[in-house]
Amino acid sequence: MYNSQKGNLMYFKSIFIIVFLLISSLSARSNYSERGIVTYKKLCKQCHGNPYKGAAMLKKKQWKVMFKDKDKKFLSVHMKNEKAMQTMQKSYYKNRRKHLMKFLISSASDSGVVPACDGNFCGN
Ligand code: HEC
Repeated sequence: MYNSQKGNLMYFKSIFIIVFLLISSLSARSNYSERGIVTYKKLCKQCHGNPYKGAAMLKKKQWKVMFKDKDKKFLSVHMKNEKAMQTMQKSYYKNRRKHLMKFLISSASDSGVVPACDGNFCGN
């Protein structure tokens, strides 16, 4: 009797631990702005290199200025590049813009983020 109760307790404990690990790994991934990185890779990498290098083009404040007034400045720096302008017209860009901005701002050159490898990403 005593033993089976103990077994049950162990069972619940391990479920609890597994759920806890799952949740914490999920939130670690979203802190990494994974969606923003994926968006960057699809839309920007071809011209600006790897995500952390791209994000480090500007400081936090400069990124915010870029995306002000419906991307006014962001579009104007790309005005002369037809291919880049086409990229910004895509619905993929419009849908993912928020994630992209979040990643760029959080990894800006003055953010203290150092491009490095971990289990998920290796700077490219
Ligand atoms: C087809 C190529 C192309 C694509 C795609 C592209 N860019 Fe650009 N980008 C350029 C060119 C060309 C310039 C202007 C020359 C320069 O400053 O390097 C530029 C300029 C910039 C600048 C200004 C840099 C500065 O020093 O002022 C930023 C910031 C920027 N791009 C970010 C992005 C982001 C973020 C994306 C993805 C959504 C993107 N670009 C997609 C070609 C591209």
